[in-house]
Amino acid sequence: MELSPEGIKNILRNVKYPGFTRDIVSFGLVKELEVNGSKVNVGILLPKPDDKLETQIRESITKTLLESPGISEVNIKVDTRAQQTPQGQAKGQEKSKLPDIKYYIAVASGKGGVGKSTVAVNLAIAITKTRKNVGLMDADIWGPSTPTMMGINEKPITTPEQKIIPLDKYGLKLMSIGFLIDEDETVIWRGPMVHGAVKQFVEEVEWRGTDYLIIDLPPGTGDAQLSLAQTVPLSGGVIVTTPQDVALIDVRRGIQMFRKLNVPVLGVVENMSYLKLPGSDQIIDIFGRGGGKRMAEKFDVPFLGEIPIDPEIRKGGDEGNPIIESHPDSPASQSFLEIAERVLQQIEKPH
Ligand SMILES: Nc1ncnc2c1ncn2[C@@H]1O[C@H](COP(=O)(O)OP(=O)(O)O)[C@@H](O)[C@H]1O
Ligand SMILES: [Mg+2]
Repeated sequence: MELSPEGIKNILRNVKYPGFTRDIVSFGLVKELEVNGSKVNVGILLPKPDDKLETQIRESITKTLLESPGISEVNIKVDTRAQQTPQGQAKGQEKSKLPDIKYYIAVASGKGGVGKSTVAVNLAIAITKTRKNVGLMDADIWGPSTPTMMGINEKPITTPEQKIIPLDKYGLKLMSIGFLIDEDETVIWRGPMVHGAVKQFVEEVEWRGTDYLIIDLPPGTGDAQLSLAQTVPLSGGVIVTTPQDVALIDVRRGIQMFRKLNVPVLGVVENMSYLKLPGSDQIIDIFGRGGGKRMAEKFDVPFLGEIPIDPEIRKGGDEGNPIIESHPDSPASQSFLEIAERVLQQIEKPH
């Protein structure tokens, strides 16, 4: 049987991205394929340098190919996207279309409804209080909610060069994938579509001039989230949870997801930690305060802070007036400011 690059590609669809159910081809890792008689050359592009991941992928590719008939030798070349940024481009490599953003910060959660978007919005605004050029990218394809939370009703416009201009509010730039897709479409998204759409979404938005980009990831920690987190060189990930055990189980998955991608875990935020009764000092731990902190300690990641349950948070979210703007002195807002400070300290510290 004659070997062809297309045939090799199909064989490589059996090689899984370590730790995930998706294969390296559909993840877009395979960049070059060359066949020379019974010899095969494979070019792989990883999102970031990662020796362990590289070794695992090399071994797995070699084993899979050598077990296939007609292949006697396998050579694998591994590049990382980090090498393709300015220096790499100077050497004439493929030009990255990614915008030149200094810090990408992902906000993730194991499940929906824990306040991930609430944290993303208030954290982004909190960062504007001490830093310039902040953006918020709502990549939650299953439930984009930041336009509502930010009180934005209009849709973004496109430049003659087909770049989408993010909308300005509360001192930050907002772009939501919700602007680009119909509500009915969101239910049918599958992994590879997510990857393509998000890549396009990142590349086609005019983020130029943005230094800090907060990304509201879709809830969950599976292939879609991994694929998304892999599209951009993340500086760090924040995990949002509520204190109950059922939510905390997912914190571990979130930490594992970022670790697999070699993305620093900036820490855990515990939302809906407690409720302070109005007009009294009494505090009720509705969901059992402190679980987020315990989880952070257990996995040796920073604990970033706790946000109380506050009806004003819900109201602000529904009305498009985030609590950090409407009640800047509230304990919740103070906590968002502290969380922002801890996040900034970590991503800006020299490595
Ligand atoms: N600390 C809080 N106190 C009161 N309501 C909250 C709090 N955090 C989130 N909410 C509300 O809970 C709902 C879910 O929050 P959201 O941020 O949309 O979650 P997710 O993005 O994780 O699905 C929203 O109506 C939001 O306003
Ligand atoms: Mg959300």
